[in-house]
Formats: sequence, structure tokens, C-alpha cells
Amino acid sequence: MDEAIKLAVIGYPVGQSLSPVIHSHWIEQHDLAGEYKAIEITPSNLKSSIAKLLDKGYRGFNVTIPFKQDIMDLCDGGIDDTARMIGAVNTIIVKDGRLHGTNTDAFGFSESLKLSGASFAKTHALVLGAGGAARAIVYGLKQMGFKKITIVNRTLTTAQEMAEDFAVEALPIEELYAAAKTADVLVNTTSLGMEGQPELNFDVQQLPQHCVVCDIVYKPLYTQLLTDARASGRQTVTGLGMLVHQARLSFLKWFDVMPDDSTELQHKLQQKMHEQKEQAEQKESAA
Ligand code: ATR
Repeated sequence: MDEAIKLAVIGYPVGQSLSPVIHSHWIEQHDLAGEYKAIEITPSNLKSSIAKLLDKGYRGFNVTIPFKQDIMDLCDGGIDDTARMIGAVNTIIVKDGRLHGTNTDAFGFSESLKLSGASFAKTHALVLGAGGAARAIVYGLKQMGFKKITIVNRTLTTAQEMAEDFAVEALPIEELYAAAKTADVLVNTTSLGMEGQPELNFDVQQLPQHCVVCDIVYKPLYTQLLTDARASGRQTVTGLGMLVHQARLSFLKWFDVMPDDSTELQHKLQQKMHEQKEQAEQKESAA
């Protein structure tokens, strides 16, 4: 039997990552020789920890918070155009001991939107937030061919800088609902609405009825934004899709096999999220 291809998601913290569930599912499904772990790295030790993992024979990594930018300096095999434009690397392929960096988040988002079954025109997309996730999503929306993309962010200057990089529009938060009037697709890229974070407080009635409402947050799966959108009869896309589809492209790069999303995988992920929530609640009540 071939030697197992060793892979890991690296981050700090990384214990709650769902990536091991996703990749282990596909490794088993396709009967491949591989193993995928979650490895926590102390931020000050990134370089030495990567060197140790290479010595142990690791062939690829997913990179998550807080290393998506810092890892770029360690990519001695180069960074592709997608990752360079997004300004972050979420996937590393190790070839001949060198790290090649790419970013599969834009694909993850656009594939999730395309395969969601939602119908939409590509006339106007409205993006809330201007952080790292927003950059991947704007890149994905541009590649999908949206005619107009508007970024609205709490800090206008951050949105303006990003808008310049991607040749799209930035508007101040006061103009949010004016921009919402024509949106075919709305995407929340901020962490607002995530468990433990404040709510987004967005009035979905300000959107056209046909607008597809997307959230990148997947804990909870139905954020207040998506719950309101669904209740009002609007189409919704949860953040779990982006997570699974970005993983598909990473998997392809490592194994040369494009895996699929499936109800079985979705079931495993929802079960894992349920377990994690229960553990967190038990911890809280014990404290
Ligand atoms: P990521 O890389 O995961 O996208 P990030 O770079 O920290 O995370 O970006 C977080 C985004 O959520 C930013 O657009 C941030 O707005 P600012 O640029 O004004 O900081 C937005 N965000 C976070 N907390 C927020 C809050 N309480 N209200 C409004 N926007 C918030």
C-alpha cells in the first residue's frame, strides 16, 4: 500500500475546525491512502513548526486564523495569482520540500452560490464587511461576472482600499439600505451573527424579494440574517456550503480527485457541530 499522504489544518486555535471531518470523509469515500489532522501552532512558532511538519513528511495544509497572511512569507515554492489577489493563503501544497500557496475560498463561495439551487441575476452584489473573507468573496463574485459589486463596511476606509484593489464600489454604512434596494445577492462576510458575537441587525425587508441572502457564518447554520430572510420567503445560502466547497478544491490539489458534497457529509458536519455546541454548553454550565 502507498504511504499515507499526511495533511493537516493549521491554526490557533484549531480544535473546533470541521476540516478534519470533511477531508477524512472523502479520504475514506475514495479509498485513498491519506490522513488529515488538526494541528494547533503557537503563532510565534509558525516557521519552526512548519519545518518540523515537513520533516515528518506532511504534503499539504489548510491554513486558518491567524496564519492566512503570515504563511505567505514561508511559501518558498510561490503563491498563485488567486492567493496573491485575495492577499491570503488557505491551502498549501508541498512539492519537493517547497510550499506552494493558493486560496480556495473564492471558489468555495462561488461554487456554493452556484450549486445552492438559488436563481439570481448577476447585476448587483452587495458585500457586508471588508476583511480577509470579503476579499475572497469579492474575487469570487467578480469571477462569476457580477456587473456591479458594492462593499459596505463599518470602517469606510478599509472598504475603500479594498474597492480600489478590485475595481468595485465602496459605500459608507449610512448608504447600506439605499444600496440594498437593487441587490440580487447579499453576502455577510463579517463575524456578526456568529455564536458568541453580536447580531448583524440587518432588515431584510430592505432587499428586493428576489435577492439571495448568503452568510459565511455557519455556527449557527441559520444566523438571524438567514432566519429572517427565509421567513420572508427569500432564497438563502448558508456558510456551510462555502466551507465544504473550498475544501473540495484543496482536496483536488492534494489527491487529484474532485470530491462532492453529499447529504451524508452534511449530516456528519451537522452532527459534529451539535456535539461541539453541547460540549461548549456543558463547559459553560460547569464554570
Ligand atoms: P476575516 O479575515 O475573517 O474576514 P476580519 O479581517 O477581522 O475577519 O474582518 C472582520 C470584518 O467584520 C470587518 O469588515 C469588520 O469591520 P471593520 O473593518 O470596521 O473592523 C467587520 N466587523 C467586525 N465586528 C464588527 C462590528 N461589531 N460591527 C460592524 N462590523 C464589524
